[in-house]
Amino acid sequence: MQTLTIRQPDDWHLHLRDAATLAAVLPYTARVFARAVVMPNLRPPVTTVEQAHAYRDRIMAALPPGLAFEPLMTLYLTGATTPAQIDAAHASDYVHAVKLYPSRATTNSDAGVRSLAECRAVLARMERLDLPLLVHGELARADVDVFDRERLFLDEVLAPLQRDFPGLRIVLEHVTTRDAVQYVEEARGRVAATITAHHLLYNRNAMFLGADGAAGMRPHFYCLPVLKREGHRAALVAAATGGNARFFLGTDSAPHPRAEKESACGCAGCFTAPLALEMYAQAFEQAGALDRLEGFASNHGADFYGLPRNSGTITLRRQVPPALPPITAQGQEIAALPVHDAAWSVDAVTPVAGG
Ligand code: NCD
Ligand code: ZN
Repeated sequence: MQTLTIRQPDDWHLHLRDAATLAAVLPYTARVFARAVVMPNLRPPVTTVEQAHAYRDRIMAALPPGLAFEPLMTLYLTGATTPAQIDAAHASDYVHAVKLYPSRATTNSDAGVRSLAECRAVLARMERLDLPLLVHGELARADVDVFDRERLFLDEVLAPLQRDFPGLRIVLEHVTTRDAVQYVEEARGRVAATITAHHLLYNRNAMFLGADGAAGMRPHFYCLPVLKREGHRAALVAAATGGNARFFLGTDSAPHPRAEKESACGCAGCFTAPLALEMYAQAFEQAGALDRLEGFASNHGADFYGLPRNSGTITLRRQVPPALPPITAQGQEIAALPVHDAAWSVDAVTPVAGG
């Protein structure tokens, strides 16, 4: 197979940042994806519908002419979020979900929730109005090993949350473990999960190996939840390529200045937007499941969110993608995840107006 044409995909988990960085990174997503769920972890975070509206306007203003793209906005859940704000979000046609960041779990999460006990009225309103909750699923306690944070979150936070709010629609974002896959497969409630391209392609060795398997330390592969062992990666690939509609594409593309990735205390997040669909195609091809890429990338997410599937198409070609130029914002280079062996490149997009 030399070309693959699928329905135009959406990215159900994306960080676009703001200002110059937004302008620099947005074209890479909008070139391929018709819509994206835009994360609210700006500084300060996007906590109100008014802020989401203003952020949406800034995204649309940064969109290169000729590209059709719809940002699906989210609110950042805090202890101060009110049921009235949930009503306003539900009444708007651009806020599609609310994001739970456990306090200190990841980049820009210091305004996050310390205990879900402070959010019960808000969660009840979301359940009633059927507004999805997007979850960064890590138990970020100092005594919990970084590699165990997702697994412990499932039992200690997610299962009680689903028990208390059985009708709440939940997306467990960027799952990284066999445990999370199994949880989502077996859960009785309305839960789905996004999977990133880098978690499908790499295990935790990628952070600790240099060229040709020599010793090394690679901050560009540091993302939260952190890459896990090979067995977990294999479980993610099986979930993504297995056809189960509870799993769908979310890149978690998270741009950071190169100087902050390559630092004594580097930040978490992998900027994958420029080659994201190419990376997914590679992972699916390695699994012998290219025929399942369309469901994962273009159908399952829209169905879970209750949005129409896109009507445009996109064609991938078996061809090494051209080298990326350095991507800069205000003179600072943005660190892109080094992808050495991509075998597919995006050839053509045929969007359909209004699709
Ligand atoms: C994300 C970021 O940089 O905003 N970082 C990351 O490691 N994934 C935040 C997040 O999604 O956890
Ligand atoms: Zn993210």
